[in-house]
Amino acid sequence: MTTRKIILAEDEMPRQWYNILADIKMNPPLGPDGNPVTPEALAPVFPMNLIEQEVSTERWIDIPEEVLDILRIWRPSPLVRALSLEKALDTPAKIYFKNESVSPPGSHKPNTAVPQAYYNREFGIKKITTETGAGQWGSALSFACSLFGIECKVFMVRVSFDQKPYRKSMMEVWGGKCVASPSSETKAGQEALEKDPDTPGSLGIAISEAIEEAVSDETGNTRYSLGSVLNHVMLHQTIIGLEAKKQLEKTGDYPDVIIGCAGGGSNFAGLAFPFVLDKINGKEIDIYPVEPAGCPTLTKAPFVYDHGDTARYTPLLPMYSLGHTFVPPPFHAGGLRYHGMAPTVSQLVSEGLIEPKAITQLDAYEAGVLLARSEGLIPAPETTHALACVVDEARKAKEEGKEKVILFNWSGHGLLDLMAYDKYFSNELKNISLPEAEIAESEKVFENFPKPELLKSR
Ligand SMILES: Cc1ncc(COP(=O)(O)O)c(C=O)c1O
Repeated sequence: MTTRKIILAEDEMPRQWYNILADIKMNPPLGPDGNPVTPEALAPVFPMNLIEQEVSTERWIDIPEEVLDILRIWRPSPLVRALSLEKALDTPAKIYFKNESVSPPGSHKPNTAVPQAYYNREFGIKKITTETGAGQWGSALSFACSLFGIECKVFMVRVSFDQKPYRKSMMEVWGGKCVASPSSETKAGQEALEKDPDTPGSLGIAISEAIEEAVSDETGNTRYSLGSVLNHVMLHQTIIGLEAKKQLEKTGDYPDVIIGCAGGGSNFAGLAFPFVLDKINGKEIDIYPVEPAGCPTLTKAPFVYDHGDTARYTPLLPMYSLGHTFVPPPFHAGGLRYHGMAPTVSQLVSEGLIEPKAITQLDAYEAGVLLARSEGLIPAPETTHALACVVDEARKAKEEGKEKVILFNWSGHGLLDLMAYDKYFSNELKNISLPEAEIAESEKVFENFPKPELLKSR
């Protein structure tokens, strides 16, 4: 009998995160004067203990006991051998996935929400503001804040706010407050509404609103929290890949291919970075971040310096970017509608250590339904993008007659995204791809910014 679920005991959970900044070269984030940003300049936005993590180049960072204790509510997460999918595809490939949908909010997001809430509480912070796309991050942070007694305010991108009303309900159950973005509560929101009162919103605008609310609290007790993109978020997510490594060791397999969907880059990074270290040290692995064709940051946009948000409150980050004012079309994978990409993931793409793929919306849903009807789980629309790539790779393995080992991240469940599946079944979803002219126009915003250097880490 082949084992389906490879389980770790609670005391086998990793006790340190892996920090990829110890092993790769990076361009620094730049402040308004064009110089590298200092930790002090970030202090109104984040607590200093998280800023220290953001800039740390220590390879291994201890996970605090209190954080480990909460992560144990759902971790270690299962590594699953997708035997039924393998059968459905009649592929010689062995397919494994890390099931991150088992967390209370239903995705990988609490892996960083919990430590972020912990470090804010340690620093004496009473309220955290944030943005959310699909609502997974907003609910994860509301969940984490409720455990640490912190107030939580979430700006949720308008289109998702309308598509996923129960995400707001979840946030409220955990004591979070959720408003649609753009809202009239901030200057950034008012400006966006003036420009287009019917805008579907974007993560870029919602980030601006959340930063503005945090830094304008005169008590000094509010900070902002980001659910992806930043180095410390990628760091916290590496528990996924570190667990997966231990679990695969129990099977005797090692991945030939690693796949994760990429919005801001965090679930992909969490699974992939511990294996990227092996690749830097000489292992041969194909590593694919997968994005939607409707928001093709890594596959179509250039590697530049750009702002992480629309109102340009963030420093200039070295990343692939469609332009900070870019408003992606309102497709259902709300967590993948971001104009930029994590600087660490961008760096790896720029030097060819990982290779991005783009997937169209209909291929993504087709794969999602195939997975639901074989493995039983209903994936989040974001996750379906990774699944479509897995299906492609498994079919390729069949054509080549190779017994490849494919590892991917099941970043979240889709139980609150069923409206999207309804639309798929009633043929209301279309493939969205962006005209080149539209991409060129939106990229004008960073024409005059400094350019990052092309650095090689190995
Ligand atoms: C289930 C799920 N997967 C993936 C993502 C994409 O984010 P990231 O690239 O940071 O993992 C999101 C973001 O909201 C999400 O909710």
